[in-house]
Amino acid sequence: MFNNQLVSYSGVQPSGNLTIGNYLGAIKNFSIYSEKYKCFYCVVDEHAITVRQVPADLRRRTYETLALYVACGLDPDKNTLYVQSHVHEHAELAWILNCYTMFGELSRMTQFKDKSSKHSDNINAGLFTYPTLMAADILLYQTDVVPVGVDQKQHVELCRDIAERFNQLYPDTFTIPEPIISKSGMKIMSLADPTKKMSKSDENVNAVVYILDDKDTVIRKFKRAVTDSDTVVRFAEDKHGINNLMTIYSCFTGKTFDEIEKEFDGKGYGEFKLAVGEVCADALAPVRQRHAELLADKAYLESLMKKGAEEASYYARRTLGKVQKKLGFVKI
Ligand code: TYM
Repeated sequence: MFNNQLVSYSGVQPSGNLTIGNYLGAIKNFSIYSEKYKCFYCVVDEHAITVRQVPADLRRRTYETLALYVACGLDPDKNTLYVQSHVHEHAELAWILNCYTMFGELSRMTQFKDKSSKHSDNINAGLFTYPTLMAADILLYQTDVVPVGVDQKQHVELCRDIAERFNQLYPDTFTIPEPIISKSGMKIMSLADPTKKMSKSDENVNAVVYILDDKDTVIRKFKRAVTDSDTVVRFAEDKHGINNLMTIYSCFTGKTFDEIEKEFDGKGYGEFKLAVGEVCADALAPVRQRHAELLADKAYLESLMKKGAEEASYYARRTLGKVQKKLGFVKI
């Protein structure tokens, strides 16, 4: 809470083309808070370099991710949209929090384990301390709610532990944040292997539906989605592929699983897959169009970056100043 106003905070890495997992699990839910909360949504470029990036791609994706925030409906006048590296307080608070985070806690993070096995030639210290930078992002803004997909829950919980530890030593420093995970879009799975999370870094492009895919591509990918040998559209423990498609259909239409089962009663998987593809493509079409318009106007995007960085810095500076004072750093 900042100035008696509740705060919502979240971030997305510009480390690949964004997927419908990012959209349904996170971005689509960001705007829910715009009316009642002070909202900060960040393009976390500093997190992205924990794995190797091609500089030109990182730069392009930073613009693209900011444009996607706006194209997905985040009004820059109601939300502070900004780029992490434009606000130096993130890296500074992260260092401080590193000194209040235990080696054992970071070792237990599943994302660290996954990423270090995927990038075994580059298990750098940044990959290990990634969660303390994420905690700094959240705590700098005295955040109350953090809308994320379920894969980020463990990081937000660690952030809470760090904040509680810090508050015990230096009372009333940080607001303790709450992860908010939307029920339906908590984990969208790969279309090629529905036991795995849909991920922007997946090398198999057919496993992933990107927010910016055109209609034909979206439909083609859903038609190819891996299902099972059954033919009945119904939710069941072992029907990972169908469960995933039902979740996606439910997210886009607002229908319950019961309603979906009734709608496709007596119809085969082919018809269902086509319907999922169509609702998804139709929902994404206006986002794609708006995104293209925004990307064509780089000067406008840069003006948003500047405005966002100025707004965010104001809040970040205040929290960092408070923390430094509590720690005993000398002010000159
Ligand atoms: P990132 O960039 O991997 O993903 C951005 C958001 O999308 C969600 N998400 C998914 N949700 C449902 N199904 C999926 N298949 C799926 N894939 C991704 C993620 O849970 C996330 O909410 N560490 C974060 C970025 C971050 C952050 C923060 C988030 C940095 N600082 C502060 C919140 C607050 C990450 O790597 O997200």
